[in-house]
Amino acid sequence: MRADVVTIFPTYLEPLRLSLVGRAQERGTLDVRTHDLRAWTSDVHRTVDDAPYGGGPGMVMRPEPWDAALSEIAESDPTRRPRVVVPTPAGRPFSQRHAEELAREPWLVFCCGRYEGIDSRVIDTWADDEISIGDYVLAGGEVATLVILEAVARLLPGVLGNSASAADDSFSDGLLEAPVYTRPQVWRGAEVPAVLRSGDHAAVARWRRAQALRRTLARRPDLVEHAELSDADRAVLEAVAAEVQQHAATASGAALAADSAAGRGSARDSPDRL
Ligand code: ADE
Repeated sequence: MRADVVTIFPTYLEPLRLSLVGRAQERGTLDVRTHDLRAWTSDVHRTVDDAPYGGGPGMVMRPEPWDAALSEIAESDPTRRPRVVVPTPAGRPFSQRHAEELAREPWLVFCCGRYEGIDSRVIDTWADDEISIGDYVLAGGEVATLVILEAVARLLPGVLGNSASAADDSFSDGLLEAPVYTRPQVWRGAEVPAVLRSGDHAAVARWRRAQALRRTLARRPDLVEHAELSDADRAVLEAVAAEVQQHAATASGAALAADSAAGRGSARDSPDRL
């Protein structure tokens, strides 16, 4: 895959030389080319921004340098057309599905906006995708590009040592991943679950699936609603629901007992305790 990144801070993208993404580049699986947007300015101050029409705070990135940069980059390979990605908090929420989709593309171009964003006519002309990495506002698109590119790069063929590990990832099957352990067997008094040491691969797979379901239910119930569930999965979820009910009944029984021992009657149920 080829990935071009256009930014006014090329050094922001240097972490792409490290670790897994760096190795993917060394092996030739990924070819990242970072470009300084100011190379496509024509004034002495190398200006890339201007005041927003309609007023308001901040500055907007001017269209001309962006158009010149994107035209030159796109024309650098006349045999194909890149998919142009603009990271922005106003974009489509990034997800593992989205990363899988981008990983199938031969060529991506990332446009890193700064200030209040890029003139909308550039987006209308060039962008295939506007992507948000979360409901918060960063100072620019560089960090979002790092996030997206890393999520995409690890899905490229041969990038992960063990190709099974991408399939086991959190989200790849719509659930969060089960907890993981390594040596020592006992650490700070906590023991690694016995089933993981049993050598029984089917039992390990069942345990991991049940843990993934429990975790997802506790942390991201929205994901459970959309996951594909087997009968065995549904049995796990019913067992969890029964445990929760049992726990609630025990907790409220203990609270009542404590209240009555302290002579408080049923004050715990009174609205003014909220
Ligand atoms: N640029 C600024 N904030 C961003 C966000 N949350 N996602 C993607 N790009 C951004």
